[in-house]
Amino acid sequence: AVAGGGHHVNAGYPDPFTRDPRYRKVLATEFDSVSPENQMKWEFIHPEPGVYNFGPADAIVAFAERHGQVVRGHTLLWHSQLAEWVTEGDYSDEELRAILKDHIQTVVGHYKGRIQQWDVANEIFTDTWEGDEIRLRPQNVFIERLGEGIIADAFRWAHEADPEAELFLNDYAVEDMGPKSDAYYELAKKLLAEGVPLHGFAFQAHLDLQYPFPETLDENMQRFDDLGLETAITELDVRFTLPESGVPTAEQLAEQADTYQGVLEACLSVDDCNSFTIWGFNDRYSWVPSFSPGQGAATVMFEDYERKPAYWALHETL
Ligand code: XIL
Repeated sequence: AVAGGGHHVNAGYPDPFTRDPRYRKVLATEFDSVSPENQMKWEFIHPEPGVYNFGPADAIVAFAERHGQVVRGHTLLWHSQLAEWVTEGDYSDEELRAILKDHIQTVVGHYKGRIQQWDVANEIFTDTWEGDEIRLRPQNVFIERLGEGIIADAFRWAHEADPEAELFLNDYAVEDMGPKSDAYYELAKKLLAEGVPLHGFAFQAHLDLQYPFPETLDENMQRFDDLGLETAITELDVRFTLPESGVPTAEQLAEQADTYQGVLEACLSVDDCNSFTIWGFNDRYSWVPSFSPGQGAATVMFEDYERKPAYWALHETL
């Protein structure tokens, strides 16, 4: 599941984790793993130089522990939802490196022993539609300024701060075999050959019914599994264009259910896909409509918590 809140686009967005008792009840009883949707991101947890705001993330971790759940940490090295003081600040390369090291070691160290998996590096490659070649994301100020080696350093720093945590690369549009997942496959091999503490590769899986199902997901997961890595599904949701009425058709819901089920089946088909996260479980709190206007209904429950076919499809498959 995902413990939502702190939406940075729509100021009126309700924070279900702190404000909706029913949400907490479902979160507590129907899941055994929790990811903070925003609360561990740099702009929230480290909003000013030297200022760490652990409160909201601490509440989620404590909640998970009370309910016997594990926690996925999200995320450390990412170009988005980074604090302005970092992107706008006038720092030397050495200072920037020290800032990242301090951030990773402070945040990972704060939760030492309490996080099962960390998304250390998030969305570090460009997309196929952004140019001919997949390359490391120029928007990532750390990689852009400090070079590719900073990725390995980020993993090493996180490992030092919590040797028990499993450390992941995480991205979207990598579900199928293709240039972007190939770039990760090559990077993973290289990091492993250098002895970098990389433990897993994670597929966000923000899927959209207007595109075909990623039929090679199982094969793709298997090649990372074959490298000795764990795999994970970390942000599954399945969006589609809503009819004018705003109410999904039975056909859309059935196709959505097949998609959820197909992703879970792919995960179950490899040995070490050990974590399966859906990015929100109630349409009311899903990030999709505000990021992709006209699309929505991407989670497994309607706004009133009525379960969709996708919910039952996951149950049947487990
Ligand atoms: C999204 C959250 O769901 C939103 O609430 C937030 O406003 C923006 O980020 N890839 C990721 C996630 O790794 O952190 C993003 O989460 C969705 C895309």
